[in-house]
Amino acid sequence: MRVVRTIADLRALLRPLREQGHRIGFVPTMGFLHEGHGALIRQSAARCDVTVVSIFVNPTQFGPGEDLATYPRDLERDQNLCLDAGATVLFLPEVGEIYPTAFQTHIEPGRMAETLCGAYRPGHFRGVATVVAKFFSIVQPDLAFFGQKDFQQTAVIRRMARDLNLPVDVVVVPTIRDTDGLALSSRNTYLDPETRSRALGLSKGLQAAKAAFDAGERSTVALLDIARAPMASADSIQYLDLVDAQTLEPLEGQVNRTVALCVAAFLGTTRLIDNIMLTPPAGAL
Ligand code: PAF
Repeated sequence: MRVVRTIADLRALLRPLREQGHRIGFVPTMGFLHEGHGALIRQSAARCDVTVVSIFVNPTQFGPGEDLATYPRDLERDQNLCLDAGATVLFLPEVGEIYPTAFQTHIEPGRMAETLCGAYRPGHFRGVATVVAKFFSIVQPDLAFFGQKDFQQTAVIRRMARDLNLPVDVVVVPTIRDTDGLALSSRNTYLDPETRSRALGLSKGLQAAKAAFDAGERSTVALLDIARAPMASADSIQYLDLVDAQTLEPLEGQVNRTVALCVAAFLGTTRLIDNIMLTPPAGAL
């Protein structure tokens, strides 16, 4: 695995590989990697000839008072995970490499970035879209891999790639969970045993709503109530919403198309997100 720190070196490394017809896969990350990232890297390694993983804690997607300064880091462990999962190139740019002095151009996502997390983290998806667009331009991947846990992020990035005609396939990989159901997240490291056990209410609520949906429940009010009950173990629920899986518009009344049930909640000071897709059987659509 080659470790590269500058855009010029990365471009010089990838150019001949691209010219030789190698398929390039890309997994952008902010480090402190876990098996969710491992799954993204493994998928890329299985489908592409070259897998580039970036580790970059992107300052523009953190708001004031968020955890930019304390975001967990463990480069040695990350390097081992990347290697084991099949990464061929690790890109480790400094902040100044990505945002040089006088940087002032941003990607402004539309309505999709204003609901769910976007309503509580103003500017977050602007920062995500900007850095991902920059990485797409730097790496020029054929495929880019993102985790379903960050459902809104995947929708915003897919929309951006379509709207800007970026020649990349955005691949969404299912959420990886611990055996007890907790969605893997770098921020789970902030949880102590007590808050971690209460965090399980989130996945339990999502699963309960899915079970009711699979048994025929279609009322959005009923599904949200079913999901909310186990989530009472969280200290507060920031949002719990059923949204159209394509547009992210909130859904009312009956579920008659594929929707995402999305939650953000606080366990102590740790904010966690999770989601589950509800898809009516094909004949029922
Ligand atoms: O999902 C993340 O880790 C980040 O939002 C991403 C996509 C690497 C952009 O900084």
